[in-house]
Amino acid sequence: MKLVCVIGSLREKSFNRALFNAIQEIAPKGVEIEEAPIKDIPVYNADNETPLPQSVVAFKEALESADGIILISPEYNRSIPGALKNAIDWASRPAKKSSWYQRPVAVMGATSGSLGTSAMQLHLKGVLAHMGTRLMGFPEFFMSTANEKLNEDGTVVTDPHTREKITSFVESFVEHIQKR
Ligand SMILES: Cc1cc2nc3c(=O)[nH]c(=O)nc-3n(C[C@H](O)[C@H](O)[C@H](O)COP(=O)(O)O)c2cc1C
Repeated sequence: MKLVCVIGSLREKSFNRALFNAIQEIAPKGVEIEEAPIKDIPVYNADNETPLPQSVVAFKEALESADGIILISPEYNRSIPGALKNAIDWASRPAKKSSWYQRPVAVMGATSGSLGTSAMQLHLKGVLAHMGTRLMGFPEFFMSTANEKLNEDGTVVTDPHTREKITSFVESFVEHIQKR
Protein backbone atom coordinates (compact mmCIF):
# COMPACT_ATOMS: atom_id res chain seq x y z
CA MET A 1 0.00 0.00 0.00
CA LYS A 2 1.24 3.50 -0.79
CA LEU A 3 0.29 6.60 1.23
CA VAL A 4 1.17 10.02 -0.11
CA CYS A 5 1.50 12.95 2.31
CA VAL A 6 1.08 16.63 1.53
CA ILE A 7 2.82 18.95 4.00
CA GLY A 8 1.11 22.33 4.38
CA SER A 9 4.22 24.18 5.61
CA LEU A 10 7.09 25.27 3.35
CA ARG A 11 9.36 25.95 6.36
CA GLU A 12 12.58 23.94 6.39
CA LYS A 13 12.38 23.08 10.11
CA SER A 14 8.61 22.59 9.98
CA PHE A 15 6.97 20.71 12.88
CA ASN A 16 4.57 19.24 10.32
CA ARG A 17 7.54 17.92 8.34
CA ALA A 18 8.79 16.31 11.58
CA LEU A 19 5.36 14.68 11.85
CA PHE A 20 5.76 13.41 8.28
CA ASN A 21 9.23 12.05 9.19
CA ALA A 22 7.65 10.19 12.12
CA ILE A 23 4.93 8.68 9.92
CA GLN A 24 7.64 7.43 7.53
CA GLU A 25 9.66 6.04 10.42
CA ILE A 26 6.76 4.30 12.21
CA ALA A 27 4.88 3.17 9.09
CA PRO A 28 3.07 -0.17 9.47
CA LYS A 29 4.70 -3.12 7.67
CA GLY A 30 3.94 -3.13 3.94
CA VAL A 31 2.98 0.56 3.90
CA GLU A 32 5.13 2.90 1.83
CA ILE A 33 5.02 6.62 2.72
CA GLU A 34 5.97 9.33 0.21
CA GLU A 35 5.64 13.11 0.00
CA ALA A 36 3.84 14.99 -2.78
CA PRO A 37 5.73 18.33 -2.62
CA ILE A 38 3.91 21.64 -3.09
CA LYS A 39 6.77 24.13 -2.84
CA ASP A 40 7.11 24.74 -6.62
CA ILE A 41 3.39 25.05 -7.36
CA PRO A 42 2.56 28.57 -8.64
CA VAL A 43 -0.36 30.65 -7.39
CA TYR A 44 -3.53 29.41 -9.11
CA ASN A 45 -4.54 31.30 -12.23
CA ALA A 46 -7.28 29.92 -14.50
CA ASP A 47 -5.44 31.42 -17.49
CA ASN A 48 -2.56 28.98 -16.82
CA GLU A 49 -4.61 25.78 -16.79
CA THR A 50 -3.90 24.75 -20.40
CA PRO A 51 -1.41 23.25 -20.31
CA LEU A 52 -1.13 22.63 -16.55
CA PRO A 53 2.21 23.73 -15.05
CA GLN A 54 4.68 20.81 -14.76
CA SER A 55 4.75 21.08 -10.94
CA VAL A 56 0.95 20.65 -10.90
CA VAL A 57 1.09 17.66 -13.28
CA ALA A 58 3.68 16.03 -10.97
CA PHE A 59 1.55 16.82 -7.89
CA LYS A 60 -1.61 15.36 -9.45
CA GLU A 61 0.28 12.24 -10.58
CA ALA A 62 1.66 11.74 -7.06
CA LEU A 63 -1.84 12.03 -5.53
CA GLU A 64 -3.35 9.70 -8.13
CA SER A 65 -0.62 7.07 -7.61
CA ALA A 66 -1.55 6.73 -3.91
CA ASP A 67 -3.95 4.36 -2.19
CA GLY A 68 -4.56 7.12 0.37
CA ILE A 69 -3.56 10.74 0.96
CA ILE A 70 -2.65 12.33 4.32
CA LEU A 71 -2.71 16.13 4.56
CA ILE A 72 -0.36 17.27 7.36
CA SER A 73 -0.64 20.96 8.06
CA PRO A 74 -0.19 23.86 10.44
CA GLU A 75 -3.03 26.29 11.14
CA TYR A 76 -2.66 29.89 9.94
CA ASN A 77 -5.05 32.43 11.45
CA ARG A 78 -7.46 29.64 12.42
CA SER A 79 -7.57 28.23 8.89
CA ILE A 80 -5.77 26.45 6.02
CA PRO A 81 -2.31 27.83 5.01
CA GLY A 82 -2.52 29.51 1.59
CA ALA A 83 0.14 27.28 -0.01
CA LEU A 84 -1.83 24.16 0.89
CA LYS A 85 -5.22 25.51 -0.23
CA ASN A 86 -3.59 26.66 -3.48
CA ALA A 87 -2.19 23.15 -4.14
CA ILE A 88 -5.58 21.59 -3.30
CA ASP A 89 -7.32 23.95 -5.72
CA TRP A 90 -4.87 23.15 -8.56
CA ALA A 91 -5.30 19.40 -8.02
CA SER A 92 -9.09 19.81 -8.29
CA ARG A 93 -8.59 21.02 -11.89
CA PRO A 94 -9.26 20.69 -14.78
CA ALA A 95 -13.02 20.31 -14.32
CA LYS A 96 -14.07 16.65 -14.12
CA LYS A 97 -10.41 15.58 -13.75
CA SER A 98 -10.05 16.32 -10.05
CA SER A 99 -7.39 14.27 -8.25
CA TRP A 100 -9.57 14.31 -5.11
CA TYR A 101 -12.87 12.75 -6.17
CA GLN A 102 -13.56 9.51 -4.23
CA ARG A 103 -9.98 9.37 -2.92
CA PRO A 104 -9.37 8.24 0.68
CA VAL A 105 -8.01 11.24 2.63
CA ALA A 106 -6.99 11.87 6.26
CA VAL A 107 -5.97 15.11 7.98
CA MET A 108 -3.28 15.63 10.65
CA GLY A 109 -1.81 18.81 12.07
CA ALA A 110 0.95 20.10 14.34
CA THR A 111 1.24 23.52 15.92
CA SER A 112 3.33 25.29 18.52
CA GLY A 113 -0.01 26.52 19.87
CA SER A 114 -2.36 24.83 22.32
CA LEU A 115 -5.37 24.06 20.11
CA GLY A 116 -3.72 21.46 17.87
CA THR A 117 -4.83 22.90 14.47
CA SER A 118 -8.47 22.01 15.21
CA ALA A 119 -9.90 25.12 13.47
CA MET A 120 -7.77 24.49 10.35
CA GLN A 121 -8.91 20.86 10.30
CA LEU A 122 -12.59 21.84 10.44
CA HIS A 123 -12.16 24.16 7.45
CA LEU A 124 -10.05 21.63 5.54
CA LYS A 125 -12.56 18.83 6.15
CA GLY A 126 -15.31 21.05 4.71
CA VAL A 127 -13.24 21.56 1.56
CA LEU A 128 -12.49 17.83 1.30
CA ALA A 129 -16.17 16.92 1.73
CA HIS A 130 -17.11 19.40 -1.01
CA MET A 131 -14.59 17.80 -3.40
CA GLY A 132 -16.11 14.34 -2.86
CA THR A 133 -13.14 12.72 -1.12
CA ARG A 134 -13.61 9.59 0.99
CA LEU A 135 -12.61 11.49 4.13
CA MET A 136 -11.73 9.73 7.40
CA GLY A 137 -13.57 11.88 9.94
CA PHE A 138 -12.57 9.80 12.96
CA PRO A 139 -10.16 9.29 14.68
CA GLU A 140 -8.69 12.79 14.69
CA PHE A 141 -5.05 13.78 15.20
CA PHE A 142 -4.00 17.04 16.86
CA MET A 143 -0.42 17.82 17.90
CA SER A 144 -0.31 20.82 20.26
CA THR A 145 2.87 22.44 21.66
CA ALA A 146 4.77 20.52 18.98
CA ASN A 147 8.06 22.25 19.85
CA GLU A 148 8.08 20.36 23.17
CA LYS A 149 7.63 16.96 21.51
CA LEU A 150 10.61 16.96 19.13
CA ASN A 151 14.35 16.38 19.38
CA GLU A 152 16.72 19.34 19.62
CA ASP A 153 16.98 20.03 15.89
CA GLY A 154 13.21 19.74 15.47
CA THR A 155 13.21 16.87 12.96
CA VAL A 156 12.23 13.83 15.07
CA VAL A 157 9.08 13.31 17.18
CA THR A 158 10.47 12.02 20.47
CA ASP A 159 7.38 12.20 22.72
CA PRO A 160 6.31 8.56 23.28
CA HIS A 161 2.58 9.35 23.65
CA THR A 162 2.58 11.29 20.36
CA ARG A 163 4.41 8.46 18.61
CA GLU A 164 1.75 5.99 19.82
CA LYS A 165 -1.01 8.28 18.57
CA ILE A 166 0.69 8.59 15.16
CA THR A 167 0.91 4.79 14.90
CA SER A 168 -2.73 4.20 15.77
CA PHE A 169 -3.93 7.05 13.50
CA VAL A 170 -2.06 5.64 10.48
CA GLU A 171 -3.34 2.13 11.28
CA SER A 172 -6.92 3.49 11.38
CA PHE A 173 -6.39 5.17 8.02
CA VAL A 174 -5.08 1.94 6.48
CA GLU A 175 -8.30 0.22 7.73
CA HIS A 176 -10.37 3.09 6.33
CA ILE A 177 -8.75 2.62 2.91
CA GLN A 178 -9.31 -1.14 2.99
CA LYS A 179 -13.04 -0.77 3.89
CA ARG A 180 -14.49 -0.28 0.42
C1 LIG B 1 0.56 33.57 9.51
C2 LIG B 1 0.55 32.65 10.69
C3 LIG B 1 -0.63 32.45 11.38
C4 LIG B 1 -0.67 31.54 12.45
N1 LIG B 1 -1.87 31.27 13.04
C5 LIG B 1 -1.96 30.25 13.92
C6 LIG B 1 -3.23 29.80 14.37
O1 LIG B 1 -4.27 30.31 14.01
N2 LIG B 1 -3.26 28.75 15.21
C7 LIG B 1 -2.10 28.12 15.64
O2 LIG B 1 -2.18 27.16 16.40
N3 LIG B 1 -0.88 28.55 15.23
C8 LIG B 1 -0.79 29.57 14.37
N4 LIG B 1 0.43 29.96 13.89
C9 LIG B 1 1.64 29.34 14.45
C10 LIG B 1 1.96 28.07 13.71
O3 LIG B 1 1.18 27.02 14.19
C11 LIG B 1 3.41 27.71 13.95
O4 LIG B 1 4.18 28.71 13.32
C12 LIG B 1 3.76 26.36 13.40
O5 LIG B 1 5.04 26.02 13.85
C13 LIG B 1 3.76 26.32 11.89
O6 LIG B 1 3.91 25.00 11.44
P1 LIG B 1 5.31 24.47 10.87
O7 LIG B 1 6.24 24.33 12.06
O8 LIG B 1 4.96 23.13 10.28
O9 LIG B 1 5.83 25.46 9.88
C14 LIG B 1 0.51 30.88 12.86
C15 LIG B 1 1.70 31.12 12.16
C16 LIG B 1 1.72 31.97 11.10
C17 LIG B 1 3.01 32.15 10.32
